[in-house]
Amino acid sequence: MSERVSIHGMWSSRLAFVLAAAGSAIGLGNIWKFPYITGENGGGAFVLVYLLCVAVVGLPVMMSEILIGRRGRESPINTMHHLVAEAQRPRLWVLLGWSGVVAGILIMSYYSVIAGWAMAYVFKTASGTLTGQTAEGIASIFGGFVASPEKLLAWHTIFMVMNTIVVSRGVRSGLEQAVRFMMPALLVLLLVMVGYAYNTPSFERGLEFLFTPDFSKISTGGVLTAMGHAFFTLSLGMGAIMMYGSYLPKGTSIAATSIAIALMDTLVALLAGMAIFPLVFANNLVPSAGPGLIFQTLPIAFGHMPYGSLFGSLFFILLVFAAWTSGISLIEPAVAWLVENRSMSRVKAATGVGILTWFVGIATVLSFSEWAFSFNFFGEMKSSGVFDVLDILTANFMLPLGGLAMAVFASRCMSRASVVDELDMGDGILFRAWYVLTRHVTPVAVGIVFLHGLGIVQPVIEFVRGLF
Ligand code: TRP
Repeated sequence: MSERVSIHGMWSSRLAFVLAAAGSAIGLGNIWKFPYITGENGGGAFVLVYLLCVAVVGLPVMMSEILIGRRGRESPINTMHHLVAEAQRPRLWVLLGWSGVVAGILIMSYYSVIAGWAMAYVFKTASGTLTGQTAEGIASIFGGFVASPEKLLAWHTIFMVMNTIVVSRGVRSGLEQAVRFMMPALLVLLLVMVGYAYNTPSFERGLEFLFTPDFSKISTGGVLTAMGHAFFTLSLGMGAIMMYGSYLPKGTSIAATSIAIALMDTLVALLAGMAIFPLVFANNLVPSAGPGLIFQTLPIAFGHMPYGSLFGSLFFILLVFAAWTSGISLIEPAVAWLVENRSMSRVKAATGVGILTWFVGIATVLSFSEWAFSFNFFGEMKSSGVFDVLDILTANFMLPLGGLAMAVFASRCMSRASVVDELDMGDGILFRAWYVLTRHVTPVAVGIVFLHGLGIVQPVIEFVRGLF
């Protein structure tokens, strides 16, 4: 039997897939979100939980998601239809595809607004507005900026148009070149900034904050956030990686590519943290400043280093690129489904999804001004209204549940033979490790974190302690 191929085309090589998947994984999640949630959740212990989740839950889930996609060769919704029929399982599983489409649109709606901030900062750093400012000055410029909905809306619109154009032309064209150039450049600039941080008197303090775990500082919500972020940063649990897997030719090692992607992604996040926290402490800023953290700290460094406005604008340009190669993967599953099922042209489908997402994004645009409200998430105050709600709903709940469902489907519902065939690494120790992790460890880990989040684990621990 000849190999099934995707109607949307296939990657030209294994490298093309790795670059595209790494392009999806590496984005605002690494450079913007990781530092600010680490700061909000007390540092070291949070980082440790996040790293553990990447290794023990993220990796096996990524392998499951890729293998499901490659077997199905269609958009996540139709892939699930196909595999459910093949394995004769309940059609309820198709919901997994649908929840992915919804999660993708919801994430993209706020992702695009934040990418818009990065775009605005390309110009703010280039023009020298931020040069020579004190930390307070830079913070107040940021505060004024996010409180202007018309500016945020304009940038959000531009970013959505950029993404819609790429998706309407098919995610493969141009992506490979963009990522091949962008990632090494981003890495070099991050290293330059870590070098700058190294020369501040607070470098050690920054590293200590990041890498010395103090478990009294991480709350219940923090554990949930750390796990959610492992899914978010690897682009797991909503079908983006499944979609990319569906364009992957057979004969590529899913395990090796997953490990490579996770390592690159983690490296970028840790470097970002090492560049930012020394600056936070050197300038007496608070680590828990929230979503504005990088926009309030990095410009201080750019304002003081030689050629700072050049480096600064270059950095934000690369950040926009990184966000762009991530954003397209968030709407690709919805677009591919419309092309498959409604026989729409790609251009029409992408435009429709783009407009819908743009519309939802308005809620985030207003979250930092007119619609701002505060609420308590497990004892942690959240003050950016709808934006925080969307972020928590998707990253902390929809993605872990989606990822869990994928791991369970691959390891418990698909036939062992078809999984062995897709993973293509024999039936030895590596396969067994994946099998145990996805069948047992992932469900238990995600389950415990959720129960912990619902406040159920703590009383049990205390009850058990009381017995002795
Ligand atoms: N991983 C990306 C980041 O860290 C964001 C992203 C792209 C994503 N595609 C995704 C998150 C799919 C969850 C699911 O910036």
